[in-house]
Formats: sequence, structure tokens, C-alpha cells
Amino acid sequence: MDRGFLFGDGVYEVFPVYNGLILGLELHLKRLQEGLDTINIVNPHNKKEWTSIINELISYHKENTKQAIYLQVSRGCDDDRKHTHDKLKPTVYMQSSSFKNPTKGDLLKGSAAITRDDIRWSQCDTKSTSLLANIMFAQEAKNHGVEETILIRDGIITECSSSNLFLVKNDCIYTHPKGPYILPGITREIIIDCAKYCDTEVKEVTFNKDFLMDADEVWISSSTREVVPIIRIDDSPVNNGKVGETWSLIYDRYQAIKSINV
Ligand code: PDD
Repeated sequence: MDRGFLFGDGVYEVFPVYNGLILGLELHLKRLQEGLDTINIVNPHNKKEWTSIINELISYHKENTKQAIYLQVSRGCDDDRKHTHDKLKPTVYMQSSSFKNPTKGDLLKGSAAITRDDIRWSQCDTKSTSLLANIMFAQEAKNHGVEETILIRDGIITECSSSNLFLVKNDCIYTHPKGPYILPGITREIIIDCAKYCDTEVKEVTFNKDFLMDADEVWISSSTREVVPIIRIDDSPVNNGKVGETWSLIYDRYQAIKSINV
């Protein structure tokens, strides 16, 4: 009778853990709080409690150098299956899985993507467990043998099925601004910091598919994928199918900060 199961009535987070250290803990907990506030679930734990619970789970899997902690808070169990709800006790579900990333050498071979119309709702900034459209897009990418599906809403590139999108044009990095049409990715945030550190300009502005196809570089980012260069979109090459230098710069900086608990 859990509403997470019956209605997808909940929010979630994925925390990447490197050698026992959670990357972006504060930022993930802040986004969790914002998601819970948006859907009116009282946060069952404070920051200190969450930190201790997550660290306990991490400690059971010490042998894994890379762990992805999945945390879901649903509205809880009800007596009756009804769309409305009264005050319930939220359910907390957590799991740890190991994850691997390709080496830089493998990433330099580049990945491919397809594009589709972004048919999702207009509250994509809430990390909702209702992910039907996202999983359909992800499966379509898999069926096409590509890494991701890039989403286009009213002619504007938003993000991807489970990652944010960046492009580089004339040494400037572009990404869709925060707002209702993208998930405010924590990796996105960290990449913007990496760019500042590397003295590279970032413009958080909207852009269309023509601008995307004309980019010097395209990347996607998420907590478990980190930052992956895309060199083919809908069977057309990006930058003649070569991975760019700005990606390499940001990738190296991202690897460097992974050992720092930000
Ligand atoms: N997905 N956009 C969407 C739609 C996502 O689902 C994700 C992450 C991101 C990147 O967010 P972050 O950098 O905070 O991981 C952007 C996670 C990893 C998932 O659903 O498993």
C-alpha cells in the first residue's frame, strides 16, 4: 500500500561515493529538501541524521571503491488506494550499488545520442520517482545502441533522459538554465564550478537544435556517468566526430575534485 509503489508519489536522490566519500552531499540533501517541500512531505530526517544513515550504508560496502547510493522518500503507506492522501509516515528506501565509469581513453572514442520531443510534465526540476517518460526515452536510446536521448521542448534543447547537457561553441560552455524544464543536476553544478576554475566562460541560456548540431563539443553529465562526450547526434557527427579539448580539461578537473568532499 506504499504510495511510492502505487502512484510514484515520492522523490529520490542518487549520491555518488568515491572511496567512502560522498561527492556533493550538501547539494544532494538540499535538492532532496526542495523536492520534499514541493510535494509537501515532511523530511523524516535532518541533515545530521541523513549523513549518518548514508554513511552507515556506505560502510557495509567498503570493498566497493565507487558506490551509487539510491535514496527514495515516498509519502508512505495508506489503508486505501485513493489519489488523495491524509497525513502519512514517509517511507525511506535506500540501496547501494557499485558503479563503473569508462576510462578517459574509452571516453575519448566518443558516444552517440538521438533526439526526441520532450513530452514530460512542466516540473522537471522535482526529482520525482514518477519516471515513465524518462525510462521510455532511455530505453529508446538503448534500442538504438546509443548512450542517451537528448530532449527538445518547443524547439529548445532541455536535457536528456537521465542526464544534463552541455555544449561548447567558440570556447564558451552553454547549458540550459535552471527552471521547470530541467533537473538541476548536481554534476551540472560541479561542472560549472570546474569551468570557473579553468577560466572557461559558462552561459546558462536556451539554445535550439541547429545550435546544438553546430557545436564544437557536446557532453552529458550525471552523478553516475560523470561527464561523457557525445560525438554523434541522430547519425550526424558533432565536430567531425572528434572529442574536444574543453571536455578533456573539465574531465580532468572533475576527476581531481572527486577526492574532495564538496
Ligand atoms: N539521474 N537530468 C535527469 C532527468 C536525471 O535523471 C539526472 C540524474 C540528471 C543529472 O543529475 P545529477 O547530476 O544530480 O545526477 C539530469 C540519476 C543519476 C538517476 O536517475 O539515476
